[in-house]
Amino acid sequence: MKFNPYIEEVPVYVPGVTAESLVKSRGFSLDEIVKLSSNENPLGPSPFAVEAARYELNRINIYPDNTYNDLKKAIAENVGLPPEMVYVGNGSSEIFLFLSLAFLNEKSNIVTSKHTFQIYKISGRIVGADVIQVPMRDDLTINLERISQSVNENTRIIYICNPNNPTGTYLSESEVRRFIESVDQDVIIVFDEAYYEYVTADDYPDTRKFLDRGNIVIIRTFSKIYGLAGLRLGYALTSPEIIEKFEHVRFPFSVSRVARAAGIAALKDTNHVRQSRESNERNKLKMYKKFEELGVKYYPSQGNFVYIETWMKGSEIFKKLLDYGVIVRPLDAYDLPKGVRVTVGDDLQTDKFLEAFERVIK
Ligand SMILES: Cc1ncc(COP(=O)(O)O)c(C=O)c1O
Repeated sequence: MKFNPYIEEVPVYVPGVTAESLVKSRGFSLDEIVKLSSNENPLGPSPFAVEAARYELNRINIYPDNTYNDLKKAIAENVGLPPEMVYVGNGSSEIFLFLSLAFLNEKSNIVTSKHTFQIYKISGRIVGADVIQVPMRDDLTINLERISQSVNENTRIIYICNPNNPTGTYLSESEVRRFIESVDQDVIIVFDEAYYEYVTADDYPDTRKFLDRGNIVIIRTFSKIYGLAGLRLGYALTSPEIIEKFEHVRFPFSVSRVARAAGIAALKDTNHVRQSRESNERNKLKMYKKFEELGVKYYPSQGNFVYIETWMKGSEIFKKLLDYGVIVRPLDAYDLPKGVRVTVGDDLQTDKFLEAFERVIK
């Protein structure tokens, strides 16, 4: 067998440990486990989304409407843009693949930051593109000046994760504006805003303002605040020209009927979004307070997770917390072996995590 030679170098995405695997290996019951490793919504999905999904289950013998016009319209209304500027995918991850298939080949490159979401690198390497990863600033924010300087004649896409997973740090509107203006309009700039609904910073950019430049793609997801990670639904906001290219590389029906229905219902449940945001803020502040008490270094986060560094290796903290049924994310794969990323849980999960964490590091 002869493989595509590019995939030899594609790092395999390693997801967080599942609660089910811990049940098997350590004998915990599923209810005892506190899973804070994949930035999921601890409050669960909106009950309206669950109801819509359940109703749709009776019709899963029928393919979905491949235009997804009603879903695009619902998203468009939610974000205040025309439906022609909305595209949907099987999770936002699928849209990263559309970007690769539509714009990259082995002669091109992508530019992104170090210590950022791994899927950008993986999706670039799959099609043989080079991946340029630029070091972060000392405060673990993305270094936009260096990214801009690293762009060359073969660069087709720049990936900016804002707020950044796994550091939780963010870039302000003025920095982003300066950066966009410094980049040639032939190069696509992708802003991955998977966590934007959690953001509280006043100077976080409204990237919709820049869409009329034509080379901007905003990526968002239903996997985080909307609590639909298991259904796989994400979207892009971009120019109709770029969307037309996506149409050429997408297989039909990639978003399921169930995800489509749940997504439309989830958008209407503003109460669920508000409660999720409030719970996140309350528990994040509780975590900060405890970290300060314990002398643990944390990076203030605009997402639903916090990156922390202690005097122990991240992989060691991760292993010791498993003994308490708590799953966090070690970050060796992100080249951050000193730290761990902890998803902000609900009230009870946060208390359980902080109690176990205090025992582990003392
Ligand atoms: C920054 C970032 N973008 C995208 C995603 C993937 O989202 P989806 O579930 O929509 O593929 C994640 C998930 O962890 C993420 O952290």
